[in-house]
Amino acid sequence: MNILVLGGGGREHALAWAIKQNPKCDRMIVAPGNAGIAQIAECATLNAEKPALVVRFCEENAVDFVVIGPEAPLAAGVGDALRAAGIACFGPSAAAARLEASKAFTKEICDAVGAPTAGWARFTDAAAARSHVTEKGLPLVIKADGLAAGKGVVIPQTLDEALGAIDMMFDGAYGAAGATVVIEEFMAGEEASFFVLVDGEAVLPIGTAQDHKRVGEGDTGPNTGGMGAYSPAPVLTESIQQQVLDEIITPCMAEMARRGMPYQGVLYAGLMIQDGRARLVEYNVRFGDPECQVLMMRLGAQVLDLMLACAEGRLAKARVNWADDHALTVVMAARGYPGDYAKGSAIKGLETLTEDSFNMMFHAGTRLEAGQVVAAGGRVLNATARAGTLAQAQAQAYALVDAVDWPEGFCRRDIGWRAL
Ligand code: AMP
Ligand code: GLY
Repeated sequence: MNILVLGGGGREHALAWAIKQNPKCDRMIVAPGNAGIAQIAECATLNAEKPALVVRFCEENAVDFVVIGPEAPLAAGVGDALRAAGIACFGPSAAAARLEASKAFTKEICDAVGAPTAGWARFTDAAAARSHVTEKGLPLVIKADGLAAGKGVVIPQTLDEALGAIDMMFDGAYGAAGATVVIEEFMAGEEASFFVLVDGEAVLPIGTAQDHKRVGEGDTGPNTGGMGAYSPAPVLTESIQQQVLDEIITPCMAEMARRGMPYQGVLYAGLMIQDGRARLVEYNVRFGDPECQVLMMRLGAQVLDLMLACAEGRLAKARVNWADDHALTVVMAARGYPGDYAKGSAIKGLETLTEDSFNMMFHAGTRLEAGQVVAAGGRVLNATARAGTLAQAQAQAYALVDAVDWPEGFCRRDIGWRAL
């Protein structure tokens, strides 16, 4: 079959790499892709947030199956348009994608089924939000309701900072995403991510992971999109996973179906674990980046069969073939990230890497310039490895890092510390 993957980051490189190993994949197209993806797939130029353009592209290129990487095309209704045109697609409808696109919507779904999550309140004007914060006091978490490219969450250290965050959101710092503000109880604990596939009804777990959000070693400094990840996450024990399925994910998915917006695709539950119990921090309607890289490393070619089962409503009978393995990915970023950084520096030594199903350098923000791979974004490369132990996977991933000659890049040297 002909498969189109939408996106061009490390997540989509890993998706394309795993899917392509499945013999059912005849032709792989990725839009827009990047320099690494270009080595294993055809890269196409396409505005992935315009549903009609995606449908036309699929018709012109005889695409049989579309895998949507990021949240923006999902929220824009690309999944709905494809299904309406009779093209199979992995990813939820725009209505169901509200689980990521609106934090208040997710809270309503959780409340409807009694799923454990932080207490919350919703505000549409600054004065009410300000007096709520003054009354409650810290710690609290202040969130723009809508999609804010991962930047719409503030955990204020002082009351002034809290009030400033409220004003900033209502002043339009995140555009329409901040027209509604959600203020939550602060949850202490350890964070981990749980990934499941959902076909509207059945829920199939496909792995756990933990990422490192802070830019600095020891989890310090500003937040980023993620500086590294590993799977499985030891903190998410079998019994906590079962609690999450029983109390959070399965009832929420049933509520979505009951409301006429059954969820189809991967669901990424961000969880806070304390005293052996998990509470929901947030849902995302896509794979995490870089969590996807470690999941794809562990799942390999079977992921296409699982995605097809998901899209065709056959998940109840699907099984994951688990290996007793560990995967870890180290993000190499451009100096300055997550602040200002330069683009265009040459990345050398990539051709010397030994890449196989245990060791892969996935590309994120890269492009080819006159035959040379250059940095084209903040997060640039993902050194990813799999082994029998997490320590071994970590050693392999850093061996990949050390074989790359890119003075303008940096990475954290402690990815995985929490689990090791
Ligand atoms: P979100 O975009 O909702 O994932 O929030 C980004 C990050 O903020 C999460 O990964 C958590 O680290 C933190 N966070 C969000 N909500 C809470 C909460 N209620 N309590 C504690 N930390 C939170
Ligand atoms: N790495 C976090 C995310 O993809 O949301």
